[in-house]
Amino acid sequence: MRLILLGPPGAGKGVIAKLLSEKLSLPHISTGDILRRAINEETPLGRDAKACVESGGLLSNEIMISLIKERLSATDCERGFILDGFPRTLNQAKALSNMEAASGVAPGIAINLDAPREVLISRLSGRRVCPSCQALYHVENMPPRKEGICDGCGSQIVIREDDQESVVKERLLRYEEEVKSLFEFYKERNLLKEVNSNMEPEKVLKNILKVIDDSYQVQTGDRLNQSGKLYCC
Ligand code: AP5
Ligand code: MG
Repeated sequence: MRLILLGPPGAGKGVIAKLLSEKLSLPHISTGDILRRAINEETPLGRDAKACVESGGLLSNEIMISLIKERLSATDCERGFILDGFPRTLNQAKALSNMEAASGVAPGIAINLDAPREVLISRLSGRRVCPSCQALYHVENMPPRKEGICDGCGSQIVIREDDQESVVKERLLRYEEEVKSLFEFYKERNLLKEVNSNMEPEKVLKNILKVIDDSYQVQTGDRLNQSGKLYCC
């Protein structure tokens, strides 16, 4: 099963992708996390990406497509994957679609998570992240058990460089510029599903599982059982 999470900065793609990944036992592939890890580790990719990511710009399609092509060819993606942050442009969507066609697999479903702008801004301004294991927190909505410390690995959690107010504005602008053509691409193929993400993560997850179940039933005749595993009907 191939799932593509779309949605503006702060929509909850990272939070929901993690829940879906646990539920469906599929790898969560976040291009933002891959880039931030590369920046922290000062790899060649990280050095190239740093200024662009931290100012809210978009990396070139060429870099992102080759990064995703390599990642999706790994054996853990054979049963499918959950993409978070890719595709972000029409060219990236076309490239993904070509990769799927070349492998002879059914196209992934694009799930658009959305919430009102003021909710996005408040989520991003209160977000904290773990630089070691990438866990996500929010100072009010999802605080760690011990203030400032990651529950999972004990590292000190930090504010993302691109969560400063001026950079958030730039990221939202870039999103608006690209999203129309991306939506059209998936709508034309009847692959775009809308899910309201302005509710508790567990409720968003439940609604997505229902959407997936309905879409997969149409696409393949398979259905999900209650633990999120596919079964044939
Ligand atoms: P990326 O990391 O993908 O950032 P983004 O798309 O801006 O999205 P965010 O990660 O900010 O938001 P999210 O939707 O994941 O929200 P989250 O779950 O964290 O990309 C970063 C940068 O990398 C880009 O700007 C670009 O430079 C580059 N890049 C990446 N991919 C690229 C590509 N394909 N092409 C070119 N460049 C690329 O949630 C946010 C907060 O809200 C958290 O604090 C969370 O705890 C809280 N929260 C989430 N859900 C809920 C909920 N349901 N209820 C209450 N609180 C919630
Ligand atoms: Mg994210």
